[in-house]
Amino acid sequence: MTFEPQIPNWGDEYKSYTEKLKNYHDWLCTTGINTGLISRKSSQFIWDEFIVHSLYFGKILNNIENNEQNIYDLGTGGGIPGVPVAITNQNKLFTLVDISESRVFELQRLKKILNLENVEIFNGNANLVLKSNNTYISRCFISSKDVLKNLKQLENVTYIVSSNGEELNEQKEMFHVKQEKFTINSTNIRHIDVINVR
Ligand SMILES: C[S@@+](CC[C@H](N)C(=O)[O-])C[C@H]1O[C@@H](n2cnc3c(N)ncnc32)[C@H](O)[C@@H]1O
Repeated sequence: MTFEPQIPNWGDEYKSYTEKLKNYHDWLCTTGINTGLISRKSSQFIWDEFIVHSLYFGKILNNIENNEQNIYDLGTGGGIPGVPVAITNQNKLFTLVDISESRVFELQRLKKILNLENVEIFNGNANLVLKSNNTYISRCFISSKDVLKNLKQLENVTYIVSSNGEELNEQKEMFHVKQEKFTINSTNIRHIDVINVR
């Protein structure tokens, strides 16, 4: 099926990675669907919703004051958003975390197929890697409200999480939240919350 590997203007810096991103997109459209990592969708949907949406997590990571060299993608499923972000940011190590053994098995194969040197894969509960002084990304795994609950006991954490754009009314003395709104194509808007524990 044909599709347009478009990237909105905010992502001009990622256009040079289009071929590598297309290789991952091919894998999602074939192995990803055949092994149940993602549901059957059009090639364009998979590009816009998974690849382009993920790139915005990387854009946020590049714009925050963040010296962490290791970023954790919690509930990564088929590697979303961790894989597109790792492809376009090779200076950091990305740990893809998922509780499902079968998903992790496929991700380990993907790492070899795409030669993803800055990606490691951890099979286990996300709670096991949720610690102070770390940076996390998550798409469609946890709500922003639950992130706030989970981070209460931690310090110096940045958690970048897909959201529905609703207001959080967070405790301002405990958290700083920035809500980002961006396009994934010519018609659809998505939201990501950037949550910092003070
Ligand atoms: C809805 S999928 C989202 C996958 C991917 N982030 C995406 O945007 O397509 C949620 C993923 O979280 C994983 N998961 C569920 N509970 C988990 C837990 N406690 N720790 C780690 N992963 C978990 C599931 O196996 C699944 O792959």
